Amino acid sequence: MSDVRAVSATPPATSPAPAGPVAVDLSAAYHGSNIEHVLEELEGELVGLAPVKRRIREIAALLLIARLREEQGLTTEKPTLHMSFTGRPGTGKTTVALQMAKILQQLGYVRKGHLVVATRDDLVGQYVGHTAPKTKEVIKRAMGGVLFIDEAYYLYRPENERDYGQEAIEMLLQSMENQRDDLVVILAGYKERMDTFFQSNPGFHSRVGHHIDFPDYSLDELMAIADLMVRRQHYAFDQPSRAAFGEYVALRMRQPHFANARSVRNALDRIKLRQANRLIARGGIVSREDLARIDAADVRASRVFATGTDDTTDE
Ligand SMILES: Nc1ncnc2c1ncn2[C@@H]1O[C@H](COP(=O)(O)OP(=O)(O)OP(=O)(O)O)[C@@H](O)[C@H]1O
Ligand SMILES: [Mg+2]
Repeated sequence: MSDVRAVSATPPATSPAPAGPVAVDLSAAYHGSNIEHVLEELEGELVGLAPVKRRIREIAALLLIARLREEQGLTTEKPTLHMSFTGRPGTGKTTVALQMAKILQQLGYVRKGHLVVATRDDLVGQYVGHTAPKTKEVIKRAMGGVLFIDEAYYLYRPENERDYGQEAIEMLLQSMENQRDDLVVILAGYKERMDTFFQSNPGFHSRVGHHIDFPDYSLDELMAIADLMVRRQHYAFDQPSRAAFGEYVALRMRQPHFANARSVRNALDRIKLRQANRLIARGGIVSREDLARIDAADVRASRVFATGTDDTTDE
């Protein structure tokens, strides 16, 4: 068909497409964008998070259509893509932000698709005149990609009248407005604190178009995450050690400072340490299977079983 054309993976340099084509092949555009690959990766690498994955698919669709509209001369405005990711520690916010940066790059929204993670300390200085250059430098590094501001609410300290955070906030707001065609800002942190932050900073609220909430994982999801991590690192639970780990996670979930998937990762690190020491202490000949297998004793040696208290700081 003569009036159907495939769309290139990169957006046009400027201005509306010349008159002519009146229809585009959506599936060719979709496949051409390589977005499918990133979405599949997201599906395979991340356990659970169904609502988060759904929102990301929706945003990907919006971006693809926006690009086709631009190519058809229907608009030159890019959709606003600044986001907030809220949720408790270890729920996958940073991991998803990395994938989001890739999606934005695949769809030609940003040039490079890298992620720059920053906290208050990276943006705000201690003395007069230090904040502007610090914030400027971070924004510069993030251009063409995603600037992920962890615990964004620490930028705002109303109790401290002359807090330098305000200076960083103003510069960020300006970049979010003026450079939004090549910079996406993601503000991350606990839901309640972020809500308060948005209430006190309407400038941020009005610039953030997409709010994505990351729920805590269930025990089953945490076990599926553990299985994925163990498999990727070429270790293996046997039946008793997996059962012991299930008990461990159930206990750990009820303790303070529990950090979802991060606590699972940290617990597995300590288990690997105990497995290594068990093997060394035993000496003699080790098989390939011995090197891979996690024993129930490696799990049950955790202090969580003995005292019910935190294994370590686990942060
Ligand atoms: N759904 C998931 N499936 C598999 N692994 C996950 C999942 N969510 C998180 N992880 C893993 O858990 C660890 C912590 O995740 P991440 O750093 O993305 O959490 P976070 O929400 O950014 O936490 P924080 O708020 O503490 O920064 C990472 O190693 C990540 O790979
Ligand atoms: Mg994080």
